[in-house]
Amino acid sequence: MYEQDKRVLAEAAIKHVKNGMILGLGTGSTTRSFIDVLGKWVEAGGQVQGVATSAETAEQAKRLNIPLLSLEEATHIDLVIDGIDQIDTQFRVLKGGGGALFREKVAALMSREVLYLADASKFVHHLSGPLPVEIDAFARPYVERFLQDKHVDVTLREQDGEPFVTNGGHLILDVDLKRVQDVPHFARELKSLTGVLETGYFERQPDHVLTVEQGQVRQLAHPDLRDGGGLV
Ligand code: 5RP
Repeated sequence: MYEQDKRVLAEAAIKHVKNGMILGLGTGSTTRSFIDVLGKWVEAGGQVQGVATSAETAEQAKRLNIPLLSLEEATHIDLVIDGIDQIDTQFRVLKGGGGALFREKVAALMSREVLYLADASKFVHHLSGPLPVEIDAFARPYVERFLQDKHVDVTLREQDGEPFVTNGGHLILDVDLKRVQDVPHFARELKSLTGVLETGYFERQPDHVLTVEQGQVRQLAHPDLRDGGGLV
């Protein structure tokens, strides 16, 4: 996504933020743009408390003087604002490209409202993945064998030539979904394996998605996508 599009989405998203809210702050480059705009909003006198879904997001929020609550301290979240990796025609979402899927999912489940920001490239007819699967390192051979038996391709996520480690100290397997017909069922099967902490298939669907095409922002809710609107 172009930086300009992210900025346009961030400026549109800030209009959803109201004084006194507890805001779930996602992770990734789109959310980073939003947090920059939120920092200016707070500087201008806006009052919110944020719940960060990653160390990276917490660090940016602190730098911008956005007050933070830990997930344990937050009794609830009013609104989550986050990016996504893919969304299909039924508003089914994949996330976790930035490796923060577990905390992002907890924040989404706790939140009264979920708003995702996505440019047109994130809209797909079929969720093709990769589906991030966060696992304990000890379970890696066992989970990989399960996936091989299903004939799906899997890659251990790496960063700078080393296994990528999440904020929770786990590994991520990126699973190709091209051969998977029923993604929700497959995600449930994965989740039932010992050693799988979470998958990037988000059962909690967004209330709204903001998207941008040629500089124009559109707000989509469930029925829009069910009718095929917003697809590229
Ligand atoms: C991080 C995520 C991100 O929201 C997702 O990967 C989108 O990232 P970006 O805004 O950089 O395209 O789920 O875990």
